[in-house]
Amino acid sequence: MQLRHFIDTQEFSKKELLNIIELAQRIKKAHQQGYTPELLHGTSLAMIFEEPSTRTRVSFEVAMTQLGGHAIYLKPGEIHLGVRESLYDTAKVLSRMCDAIFARTLKHETITELARYADVPVFNGLTDYNHPTQAVCDVLTMLEHKPTNKRLEDLHITFIGDATNVLSSLMLITTRLGMHFTQVAPKKYQAPPEWIAQAQSNCAESGGTVHLEEDPIKGVQEADFIYTDLWWWVGQEDQIPERRAAFMPKYQVNLDIFNKAPSHCKFMHCLPASRGVEVTNEVMDHPRSIIFDQSENRLHTEKGLLVYFLYPRLKHASMELKAYHRGEIETMINQFDLI
Ligand code: CP
Repeated sequence: MQLRHFIDTQEFSKKELLNIIELAQRIKKAHQQGYTPELLHGTSLAMIFEEPSTRTRVSFEVAMTQLGGHAIYLKPGEIHLGVRESLYDTAKVLSRMCDAIFARTLKHETITELARYADVPVFNGLTDYNHPTQAVCDVLTMLEHKPTNKRLEDLHITFIGDATNVLSSLMLITTRLGMHFTQVAPKKYQAPPEWIAQAQSNCAESGGTVHLEEDPIKGVQEADFIYTDLWWWVGQEDQIPERRAAFMPKYQVNLDIFNKAPSHCKFMHCLPASRGVEVTNEVMDHPRSIIFDQSENRLHTEKGLLVYFLYPRLKHASMELKAYHRGEIETMINQFDLI
């Protein structure tokens, strides 16, 4: 079986991405009725975090538990990754003991290198370039909250804010799926040409569109969803005054901007949010804010992803084979001189 990793949605077709989402929706439906099939019984996921996380860590860990598996949280200082042991050796060892590897790495090159050496699927839990598991969750959430008379391909997403890793993944997945994506930001903070080129190439195939816009009022005219993210992240603290001056007050998602969008428009945020900075409390807590549905959907999405990548790789022993091995081992134990 071909080994595939989940590093970048660009490595997946529209059909494959929709299959993952459908699977997540189906497992979510079962979960909501009180049953999560233990499709990953006995499996283990190694989770490496070079940066803090609430949603990603909890969603992957709970997803593994509910699917009958187990997740191991590994943070810098507790493992040798890249310091006393090469990425190659770490990838090989984790592949021998675990069924999959998850990593949130500071540099995108770290996860691509891990994936190059790993012999089990590697999941990207955010890098300085992208956040693909968040993007799959976001599309699943949009499908749940879209107007009933619109298809996925009719949806307009307006992202107001910086060209973050979340923006890159959202722009690429929506354009791959044939949706309509607009980033609203000052020129300096708009997506770089190489990201736009990938999005335009997606659009040429999918029928989607991608736009850059400096004016928030123009940018939200057709928005079915307005999305924002932090204006600065870990390591950008020295840029806070400059970034605040560039974005505030024009690009803050407040009621003035939200009310300029169509009356059905929903508000999304990957979280964590800086309330009162990139978005006001009035919008975060607005009846058309879907941020906590979106956040919960991380759990359902991770289940879809984990099952999609791991289940086909598992060996499913027959009842006869299980009984045979158990019997042989028990017979052996009974022959030992146990204390
Ligand atoms: N959205 C997201 O990735 O949240 P965490 O940083 O808490 O994992």
